[in-house]
Amino acid sequence: MENKNISPLLEVRDLHVEVEGKEVIKGIDLALYGGAKLALMGPNGSGKSSLSMALMGHPGYKVKSGSIILDGNDITGLSPDKRAKVGLFLAMQNPVSVPGVSVANFLRAIMKAKRGEEVPIREFREMLVKAMGLLEMERSFANRYVNDGFSGGEKKKLELLQMVLLNPKVAVVDEIDSGLDVDALKIVADGVNRITGENNAFLLITHYRRILDYIRPDGVVVLMEGRIVASGGPELINQIDRQGYDWLSAKTA
Ligand SMILES: Nc1ncnc2c1ncn2[C@@H]1O[C@H](COP(=O)(O)OP(=O)(O)OP(=O)(O)O)[C@@H](O)[C@H]1O
Ligand SMILES: [Mg+2]
Repeated sequence: MENKNISPLLEVRDLHVEVEGKEVIKGIDLALYGGAKLALMGPNGSGKSSLSMALMGHPGYKVKSGSIILDGNDITGLSPDKRAKVGLFLAMQNPVSVPGVSVANFLRAIMKAKRGEEVPIREFREMLVKAMGLLEMERSFANRYVNDGFSGGEKKKLELLQMVLLNPKVAVVDEIDSGLDVDALKIVADGVNRITGENNAFLLITHYRRILDYIRPDGVVVLMEGRIVASGGPELINQIDRQGYDWLSAKTA
């Protein structure tokens, strides 16, 4: 999918990130081209979620140096909502619950925030029904309160639903496989596969290969102790599956 003649949708240049005074990302370079599904793997505590937080502009994750470029625009200093407006989407490892707000109203508010104006109710309903169909979700899901009593799988599906509706240029998906059974995993993977086109790209964060059996990334990068220690094609996933991460840690020293 990589085409050297076109510029990447997301580019990370020599990024250093600090959290609570500790450097957790120690110089990362990444390029994501349209149509790409890049898997970011690595053991617990290697900095995967920190990288996604920094990409999204979480104030606790301070960029000390380096830059983040989205579709040609430097977004390093932008607030999270501005980043979302220009087309970055983050699905979090542990999403929050919003009791008292229905899924439908929550999604409509998100769409309004992105567009800068209310989405007419008929148009919104049509979009919602289409998106829920794509993800094979029950209609009644739209009437439930956001993440209130949701199962792990339902939380992930809600994130996917947001993603389908927002149609981001770049989506960073952190551990979307956590808590999903095999059937739900297939639906989620199918959803990701169906919404990936030439004009968007995915960064999929995971430590297990399970979801990668269904999503089939075209590239893999491995993070350890805040640095990229390996990058390659999907064969790297099998190698990690067989050998774990230890054989790579020698390379970080
Ligand atoms: N908010 C925070 N406050 C303090 N330390 C943090 C914070 N967030 C991350 N860290 C530290 O940064 C390092 C990287 O953590 P991070 O959550 O990015 O790892 P990860 O690769 O996502 O791990 P996992 O696979 O367990 O999700 C760890 O040492 C962690 O303790
Ligand atoms: Mg994490």
